[in-house]
Amino acid sequence: MPRRLTIRDIHEAARSRKLSMVTAYDAFSARLVDESGVDMALVGDSLGTTVQGRPDTLGVTMADMLYHTGIVARCSSRALVVGDMPFGSYQASRARAMENAMAFLRAGAQAVKLEGGKRVLPLVKRMVEAGVPVMGHLGFTPQSTNQTGGPRVNKARDTLLKEALALEKAGVFALVLEMVPAEITKEISKALTVPTIGIGAGPHADGQVLVFYDMLGFSPEFTPRFLKRYFDFHNGALGALKAYKADVEAGSYPGPEHSY
Ligand code: KIV
Repeated sequence: MPRRLTIRDIHEAARSRKLSMVTAYDAFSARLVDESGVDMALVGDSLGTTVQGRPDTLGVTMADMLYHTGIVARCSSRALVVGDMPFGSYQASRARAMENAMAFLRAGAQAVKLEGGKRVLPLVKRMVEAGVPVMGHLGFTPQSTNQTGGPRVNKARDTLLKEALALEKAGVFALVLEMVPAEITKEISKALTVPTIGIGAGPHADGQVLVFYDMLGFSPEFTPRFLKRYFDFHNGALGALKAYKADVEAGSYPGPEHSY
């Protein structure tokens, strides 16, 4: 069985090639992501929209995240598992945030991710000191959707650069940049020693992340410019379900070869 990647492995890999990360939520996605050799499986709070059918990620709870993190950890053996701290799990009090971060590691994650810059710096520092590896997340941060009015390209170069450097100083091992212009990503990636992981942030990040459901075509209505669809699951599965229904109605399934 392959060995689980460590943060040291991720840093070493980043010196010679780009990193890959894909979200995973359940046995199906965890096994596929792991078998593909993708470096990191992010148990994203995007499960609020992809799995739970919510309009955004704000309703996702710690209980939801720990449930899915446990499954992803159990059903993967190589990818580094990153648990995404949901809205409300690290904002209310520092003690609660610390307990919640540790709960992710107990559930099987090797690291946590949290959104934000300046306001999370002391927390990141405390978590790292306590032995919890942290991935930062700047640019468009979906948990602030009520403040930003939805997904927006974040062009605040000076703030992004300042906060990225401050997060690195606080101890993040990697930094997600979401919906950031390519040239700003380039500048930030050059300035940091830890790897940047882009989503809608152009080609200059040290790695890329995509949402499993989006990249595999589960959600045909979701068509942001940054998304590349590598598979058309929706139409393939829809065709298969329609063929099954037609076979059942015509009496051609099950045939003798499916019968005892
Ligand atoms: O929740 C998530 O899937 C994420 C990625 C889009 C980075 O935060």
